[in-house]
Amino acid sequence: MLILSPSILAADFTKLGEQINETVQAGAEYIHFDVMDGMFVPQISFGMPVLETIRGCTDKVFDVHLMIEDPGRYVEAFAGAGADLITVHAEACTHLDRVIQQIRAVGKKAGVALNPATPLSVLDYVLDELDMVLIMTVNPGFGGQKLIPYCLQKVRDLRAVCEKRGLAMDIQVDGGIKASNAREVIEAGANVLVGGSAVFSGDVTANTKAFMDVFAGLEAL
Ligand code: DX5
Ligand code: ZN
Repeated sequence: MLILSPSILAADFTKLGEQINETVQAGAEYIHFDVMDGMFVPQISFGMPVLETIRGCTDKVFDVHLMIEDPGRYVEAFAGAGADLITVHAEACTHLDRVIQQIRAVGKKAGVALNPATPLSVLDYVLDELDMVLIMTVNPGFGGQKLIPYCLQKVRDLRAVCEKRGLAMDIQVDGGIKASNAREVIEAGANVLVGGSAVFSGDVTANTKAFMDVFAGLEAL
């Protein structure tokens, strides 16, 4: 299934609930939370209280992208705040296997994110433990950047590895994704697309529908 995960980092925070509703009404299945700590990435964004507040207004999947150092410290807290899927960066974990187990232990789906320059091989021994791999298509830290083209090759390579190993893995792409390049990333093997500025700049409903049109066109094939 093709899924759009709007990144609220790009939303208008004065009307956050309203804008999330617009994306959901127009077909978004996930909501992407970009949590930044000012250490792993330069920016500081938001944390658990924002999830808790929004949890009250939707039952959609909370897709939490932790761009924080040593994320194991906060797995329980984000699970308690309403996360359904918790994604940590391989680069931020000294003990990646342990953090994946922590996510499993609180009954949530586990994802691992890889920065553009990080090779897929870091996942060789843990791939079977994951629900999703997030291939960053920009260097994390800011919305509104341009997709780095070589990352698509990484998506293709990962899809091939998963097929070879018989894993029905969700592959998420994040950074510079737009309706105009959605088809290309899906054809490379991604099935969960994060959209920040492409969803929230301008008409949120129309922007979301533009992604849905691409999905419908591909699903009809
Ligand atoms: C990058 C974040 C992304 C970002 C996406 O650090 O992980 O989720 O907000 O924004 P766009 O779609 O504008 O590149
Ligand atoms: Zn993200």
